[in-house]
Amino acid sequence: MCSYLVCFRDNCREKYPIDSVLYQCPRCGGLLEASYRWDAAGVSGWKTLWRNRRLDNSALEQSGVWRYRESIPFLQDISRVVTLREGNTPLLPAPLAAQYAGLDALTFKHQGFNPTGSFKDNGMTCGVSQAVQLGRTLVGCVSTGNTSASMAAYASAAGLKPVIFLPHGNISFGKLSQALEYGALTLQVHANFDQILAFVRQIADRAGLYLLNSINPFRIEGQKTIAIEMLDQLDWRAPDWVVMPGGNLGNCAAIGKGFLEMHELGLIDRLPRIAVIQSAGAAPFYEFMKAPGEDKFRAVESPETLATAIRIGNPVSWPKAWSVLRRTNGTVERASEQEIADAKAVIGRAGIGCEPASAATLAGIRKLVASHIIRREDHVVGVLTGNVLKDPDYIYRYHTGQLKTPGGKPITSTYGNKPVEVTADADAVVGMLTKL
Ligand code: F0G
Repeated sequence: MCSYLVCFRDNCREKYPIDSVLYQCPRCGGLLEASYRWDAAGVSGWKTLWRNRRLDNSALEQSGVWRYRESIPFLQDISRVVTLREGNTPLLPAPLAAQYAGLDALTFKHQGFNPTGSFKDNGMTCGVSQAVQLGRTLVGCVSTGNTSASMAAYASAAGLKPVIFLPHGNISFGKLSQALEYGALTLQVHANFDQILAFVRQIADRAGLYLLNSINPFRIEGQKTIAIEMLDQLDWRAPDWVVMPGGNLGNCAAIGKGFLEMHELGLIDRLPRIAVIQSAGAAPFYEFMKAPGEDKFRAVESPETLATAIRIGNPVSWPKAWSVLRRTNGTVERASEQEIADAKAVIGRAGIGCEPASAATLAGIRKLVASHIIRREDHVVGVLTGNVLKDPDYIYRYHTGQLKTPGGKPITSTYGNKPVEVTADADAVVGMLTKL
């Protein structure tokens, strides 16, 4: 097995050793990706091998990422793996959400079941394991909250020092609290995500930081297994559509790479179509896809959305996400604050729950069904990216009628569920309950 890094740009494709510390191609500035010369002879046995490993209690096989390690063979020494038993996230049927979207059926792949509550753990186990392999001790990231929570946990578990850079005042309290609890040096910067990422990319080498944002190709390798685990759970029948929220667009790049590679290797006979949903206040990729072209991408200067996880105006992975949408005949949609808030409450009512950015998935599916791009009878899997407890403040405001858009416009609590104050008066409480 041979693994290497390669420039993503079609007109470059320069190769670099797999242990290079590079976040972009030194020759042309393009994004990098991990690539492999697969040992085709072994591939036919992977499905059975991966399924059987679920019966094994060892740490590596209990991980829903490393169980699929033949698909991510970049790590030179597998004993270096840092795992918190990430992945293993369920596929949850959601009839109520299907009805809301106008579909016959809808299933969610809920990445919020991960150890730190988001899909970032799938990628972070790989990024941090590579950092350990490379002998790095200081790891860093810029984050809207989930990457930092995840990196803090994995780095601390590995005995590395995590340093995180956050847009001051613009990440949820739940995520900030996780970073503190997991022991990260937490720097709150008075700038937005895009500005801080540009700054940290400049200083990373000088500061000795190994960067674990999704420009790190090993993060993408880990998130690729979201697609692979999904296929394993579906007995290798690819859905018609896989829908997910888009911010920095690393996850679309990763999940798309997973499906494309499984297709190239002959493990599935067709590709799902990928749909990315952006928040209307931070939707540069949506605008771009109306008239795409190599030099046509325009950043949004001041992205604004209550779904702070996807409050990103200049997504670094757009070329990879664009390629995924082209190759899977995919699409992109945007959803308003009201649409996201209501979709989120519906996911909650279904007993599932998710954070605001994740709910863009359902809001987008509903719009794509209404515009007949997704058909009622299609097999659709929506990716929910983060746990309901990531942003309790948003939930409380929605249900008590206090949620406002970043511009100050009230959001209607269409599915509001206010707490009710009562005194400990038995007759009054029993009277109330018997009327339910
Ligand atoms: N959903 C959630 C809950 C996220 O935290 C993010 C990104 C996304 C969706 C979008 O994924 O960036 O790969 O397109 N959060 C990053 C962070 C940016 O710093 O935690 P993407």
